[in-house]
Amino acid sequence: MVAVVGATGRQGSAVVRHLLAEGWRVRALTRDPTSAASRVLRDRGAEIHRVDTDDVHSLRPAFEGAYGVFNVQNPMTSSIEAEVRQGRNVADAAAEAAVCHVVYGAAGVGTMETGIGSWDSKVTVAEHYRTLGLRLTVLRPMAFMELMTDKGYYPAVSVWHVMPKLMGSSRPVGWLCTDDLGAVVARVFADPQRWGGAALSLAADVQSIDQCRAIWHEVRGRAPRGFPMPVWLFERFVGADLTTMWRWLRNAQFDISTETTLEIRPGALTVRDWLARTLDASS
Ligand SMILES: NC(=O)c1ccc[n+]([C@@H]2O[C@H](COP(=O)([O-])OP(=O)(O)OC[C@H]3O[C@@H](n4cnc5c(N)ncnc54)[C@H](OP(=O)(O)O)[C@@H]3O)[C@@H](O)[C@H]2O)c1
Repeated sequence: MVAVVGATGRQGSAVVRHLLAEGWRVRALTRDPTSAASRVLRDRGAEIHRVDTDDVHSLRPAFEGAYGVFNVQNPMTSSIEAEVRQGRNVADAAAEAAVCHVVYGAAGVGTMETGIGSWDSKVTVAEHYRTLGLRLTVLRPMAFMELMTDKGYYPAVSVWHVMPKLMGSSRPVGWLCTDDLGAVVARVFADPQRWGGAALSLAADVQSIDQCRAIWHEVRGRAPRGFPMPVWLFERFVGADLTTMWRWLRNAQFDISTETTLEIRPGALTVRDWLARTLDASS
């Protein structure tokens, strides 16, 4: 049985789906077992369990009897401090429950030198897992393809305007859709000998924002809508974490490779395939 933190979210729901499909029992953790998203997971076959990752006592029974834990936090909906606190709580409870394998949905490049709050926080949390001696696999997707379409990310302002403005529209971006993230997590749990202890950068395709715009145009027959907004106003709405990240990415040198992702998930979708499916479904 695998306990999934953040099970109703973008990553967690994909993880639940793929674990169930591969025959795992799944305990889906949520603050609200009565929500529509929780009902969907229950209907798929997951056991729903109420937790609050801010309360370590709620995590102990949630992890009891679990072989594995998938963990993710979202600092954009809480804060960087909350992400670190909650991530450590999950680690402590997983260690107490003697969980065999933790897969951590992280981000970034895995070093502490970026100054990007929501990346450094994940390095801190991963370090805490390691000090507790847990078998840990860290997954670091660069950018989810959903950034281009999910209204929750305000794509017209963010990915089609502020991101390229700060990062440069021809810089390479490593893309992965959250469904493939879920598939990778299920494969990693299935092969702990191979992936336990690993930290994996994940990308199924590498395309600049200009290239994504062109692919969108080919698929849809028109360009995606952008909405110009001054950077200072964007920061007022969502904080400075993303703008710090995009400025950092303008000059940073690091490897973006699709090799590991395609080894684990050979059919992982390219931007073109994913946009064709997603835009088709929404039209
Ligand atoms: N956007 C990108 O391109 C990208 C790329 C790489 C990595 N990331 C990382 O992805 C992470 C966000 O993942 P996501 O998009 O899957 O997040 P998400 O969709 O916001 O899901 C997070 C889930 O956590 C649950 N949750 C929130 N607070 C909780 C608490 N106190 N106790 C228990 N559960 C709680 C919520 O479920 P309930 O409401 O049901 O409790 C929610 O469904 C971030 O850390 C980000 O850095 C993003």
